[in-house]
Amino acid sequence: MRKGLETLKRQALDEIAGAHTGEEFLAIKTRYLGRKGLLTDILRALKDVSSDDRPLLGRISNEIKEAISAEIDGALARLDAEGASDALLRERIDVTLPGRAVRYGTIHPITRVMGEICEIFSQLGFVVAEGPEVELDYYNFEALNIPRDHPARDMQDTFYISDSVVLRTHTSPVQVRTMEKQRPPVRIISPGKVYRPDSDVSHTPMFHQVEGLLVDRGITFGDLKGVLTYFLRRMFGEETVLRFRPSFFPFTEPSAEVDIRCVMCGGSGCRVCKQSGWLEVLGSGMVDPEVFKVVGYDPEEYTGFAFGLGVERITMLKYGISDIRLFFENDLRFLTQF
Ligand code: DAH
Repeated sequence: MRKGLETLKRQALDEIAGAHTGEEFLAIKTRYLGRKGLLTDILRALKDVSSDDRPLLGRISNEIKEAISAEIDGALARLDAEGASDALLRERIDVTLPGRAVRYGTIHPITRVMGEICEIFSQLGFVVAEGPEVELDYYNFEALNIPRDHPARDMQDTFYISDSVVLRTHTSPVQVRTMEKQRPPVRIISPGKVYRPDSDVSHTPMFHQVEGLLVDRGITFGDLKGVLTYFLRRMFGEETVLRFRPSFFPFTEPSAEVDIRCVMCGGSGCRVCKQSGWLEVLGSGMVDPEVFKVVGYDPEEYTGFAFGLGVERITMLKYGISDIRLFFENDLRFLTQF
């Protein structure tokens, strides 16, 4: 039996020496040390050996078992280490390569300019107020002194939701909603989306406006001019030249459109200003007493001014953009420039 054990040991070690892969080593382990393995069989047979021989044979058997086990474990560990270093060698890291830049998003130019406008006015004490985009005909038109069937409605084509509900065509309804809720003094700025069924190089069906309203005792056209001049110079530069041109809006009296000297040609006349030398940038006026009556303000006690401006237009002038549709096509080559 002892000889048999020695032979078994040599045989196992030979096999181990001839093996290369992990599977081969594991197969050898199973063949000798597995539950039905060759050595296991022998250990089991020990119980039939005379008790004189048993301790010695038992010890030898165990030594053989451990030797085989150790050989195989060692071989497997070497394989593992080689595998790992192979993987490391295959993974070529060139630490001299430039890193891969993370692409951050950018603020949309309209959002950016809307933020700048609100920032300037909040520094003047104006508070941001918001109103619904799906608006009652009443607030969008009626309360702003634009009755049904009045020709003033022709100034604004409209998306109707129903007879009495529209997509707001301007941010002016927020004036009425605000004054309904609070007494003077009122000093609000209202940015947001507005809708009109127009579409060409300078019109999109959805665009953005910022409305302003200031009401208190003793407010004059001089205040309007001062605030808007300050605003436009902050927006377009200290040297900006302004022109207040008489106009008509149903909810202001008197009304003025405000032009700035053309930012493209400096006033000599170009395609952008249509050779006029001036660019229209916003509508404004003194709040019409009719609007004050609708919200229950006494027009004898309070006066105020209002204005509304198109954010796309301001942005196009500020950055020299010639097609309004660029804002909404989501072309990153355009958007990442801001
Ligand atoms: N709501 C007008 C429009 O969209 C713009 C406007 C003009 C607003 C005069 C005003 C204003 O507040 O006083 O055409």
